[in-house]
Amino acid sequence: MTKVSLIVAMDRNRGIGRDNDLMWHLPNDMRFFKETTENQIVVMGRKNYDSIPEKYRPLPNRENVILTKNTSFEASNCSVFHSLDAALRAYQSDKNRKFFIIGGGQIYKLALEAKILEEMFITHIDGNYDADTFFPDFNESDWNKELLMSQAIDERHRHGFKVFRYTPAK
Ligand SMILES: NC(=O)c1ccc[n+]([C@@H]2O[C@H](COP(=O)([O-])OP(=O)(O)OC[C@H]3O[C@@H](n4cnc5c(N)ncnc54)[C@H](OP(=O)(O)O)[C@@H]3O)[C@@H](O)[C@H]2O)c1
Repeated sequence: MTKVSLIVAMDRNRGIGRDNDLMWHLPNDMRFFKETTENQIVVMGRKNYDSIPEKYRPLPNRENVILTKNTSFEASNCSVFHSLDAALRAYQSDKNRKFFIIGGGQIYKLALEAKILEEMFITHIDGNYDADTFFPDFNESDWNKELLMSQAIDERHRHGFKVFRYTPAK
């Protein structure tokens, strides 16, 4: 079975996006996302896919999987599925790559509710942005947390952030 992982960056209010876009520019978090998901399978909602500028999609060096209920939706060089379950089944025998849930809000909710996650990489940004899309509220006590990275405010980062790896507490 392929390992199911999730990666997200959120503000202090669990905000993840506004007007179908990201709300911050944090180069070192962007680099963490790229390095962590490279060569893996990345699974995204159709709105998240739409939000990626055309010149950057599909995300390079990763298998791009899009979830939509629209059975006529197509996107070049991407795989399209109509349920999370169907996508999981398609890759379940792939033991070499992680199945990375990369958002947005609706897809994070699906994955958390399905209780399939073996790890979550969460960037907690030390700021409040005016989000219209949020990461689902989840019970922190169900998870163990390990700090992976800490970024202070500098000329390239308007807010500091911390990256944690969460694993189920069992
Ligand atoms: N901060 C972060 O780490 C991060 C990461 C990713 C995205 N974002 C942000 O999140 C926002 C987008 O999130 P969102 O919640 O609006 O949309 P989303 O989760 O990206 O996509 C929603 C779409 O996914 C499809 N979908 C939902 N449930 C489904 C199901 N059960 N089966 C099959 N398809 C399903 C539907 O597509 P159809 O309508 O085509 O049927 C739905 O409209 C943007 O602002 C983006 O910038 C932030």
